[in-house]
Formats: sequence, structure tokens, C-alpha cells
Amino acid sequence: MTTRILKSTRAGVRVYSGPEELALKAARSFARLADQYVLGCGRFTVALSGGSTPKAMFEALAAEPFRETVPWGSILFFWGDERTVPADHPDSNYHMAYTTLLSLVPVPDQNIFRMPADNPDLEAAAAAYSNTLLGVGDTREGFPAIDLVFLGMGADGHTASLFPGTEALRVTDRVVVPNYVPKLKTHRLTLAVPTINAARNVRFLVSGADKAEPLKSVLEGERDPERYPSQLIHPVDGSLLWMVDEAAAKLLA
Ligand code: 6PG
Repeated sequence: MTTRILKSTRAGVRVYSGPEELALKAARSFARLADQYVLGCGRFTVALSGGSTPKAMFEALAAEPFRETVPWGSILFFWGDERTVPADHPDSNYHMAYTTLLSLVPVPDQNIFRMPADNPDLEAAAAAYSNTLLGVGDTREGFPAIDLVFLGMGADGHTASLFPGTEALRVTDRVVVPNYVPKLKTHRLTLAVPTINAARNVRFLVSGADKAEPLKSVLEGERDPERYPSQLIHPVDGSLLWMVDEAAAKLLA
């Protein structure tokens, strides 16, 4: 593993040999932060993402040593984005996390806060989820201060459901927003940028050769967040860590 701090973005970048090591180290990082926050504050709030890399991390967390040792009962689970499908749909980010992790570890149902993106009234769903997040307690300048937000990055530079050129990128005054994604011809529900940036810890999990070019552009290229929305992510006073594998990191300077 190699670690670097990018001066231009104040972000840390850690490079792992492959997707398996990345998933395991991400699971360890989650477990460490959970211990730390539960010890210090009595609970830990985390927002999960969809995607293949988180899935591998969920599978690691559902196995030992994490299954037995993580303080599952004191963790509150949220999501960073969701597709407009029912909770049991294979495309649902909630469904993926539930089947690979949450149904396999002792998390009480009342600690799981699914994004209600199957509500046909997405504005109402966004407002309801904002209230859920704000109701948890801690805020930073009016936005929920989530302890840990996991993010993936698509090959087009999107993160959560903040896709290139879409309206949600420009939202500064809402916690959660519906976002129409023309290239997918669908709506999504997503945390808005200021909500992610109010988090205490943000971890990007990125693996695979198809991410090498966008990763280089996001971290080392010109600033162009309309094209590379992941560039918008800079926690105001939290930590930002990019956990990537060698294939994704191969073009980094
Ligand atoms: C989603 C995600 C999305 C994802 C990236 C990366 O619902 O699609 O939350 O932002 O994290 O597309 O996905 P991979 O890890 O599969 O490349």
C-alpha cells in the first residue's frame, strides 16, 4: 500500500494492490471509525453507496472478524443515493447493502434508514429523507454532519447520483435532492453536495482500469466539476480519503 497527500486538493490517496485488498482495508477503516465514534459519542452514522467496490466491502464486513467485533447495534445506516425502484429490486442500493451485509449482522431494523426513492413523489421523498437526516442530531451550518460517507466514482466522474451536467450539482441549499439523469433517462435521489461536504469523514472507493482516466482528471486535471462532479467533494472540516487500487491509480503522477 502507498499513501500520498495531494497538495492541490488536501485529499489523501491510498493505493492498494487490487480490489480484494481495497475492500478489506475499507472494511477495516469502517470498523476503526465505528469503534472510535461509538466510544466517543455512543453511536456512529454512516451513509452507504451503491457500486461493485462497496459490495465487496460489505461482504468483508459480513464475515469475521468484523461480524463479531463491530458495534453494529450503535451504528445508524443511511444512503448517499438511490435509484427509483422498490426496496426489493436488484438495482436498489438499499437491497444490495441489505442482502450482502445488513441482513447478516446484528443491526436493529430501527437503525436502517432507507432512501424512499420508490415514492413517485420524489420531492416529497427528498424532503422526508432530509428530515430523517436532520432529525439524527448533529448538524454543520444547517446540514447533517454524517460521521462517514462512502462514495464510489463512475467512469464518467459522477459520484453518488451527482452526474455530469445535471441540476443537482448546482444545489447549495438542500440536504437531499431528486436528480434527473438524461443519459440514463431516469431520476435518482441523492445527497446534495453540501451535505456530503458537511460529513466528518468521506471515503471514495475506486477500483478498476476504467477508472484510471477519470481518476487522473478528477485529482490532477483542471477543475471542471460540471464534467467531473467528484471534484465537488471537499469536506469543509472533515477528512477526505481516496482508497483506490493499482489499476485505477495507474495514471496518477
Ligand atoms: C450508484 C452509486 C454510484 C457508484 C458509482 C461507482 O448508485 O450507482 O452510488 O455513484 O458508486 O457508479 O460504482 P462502481 O463501484 O460499481 O464502479
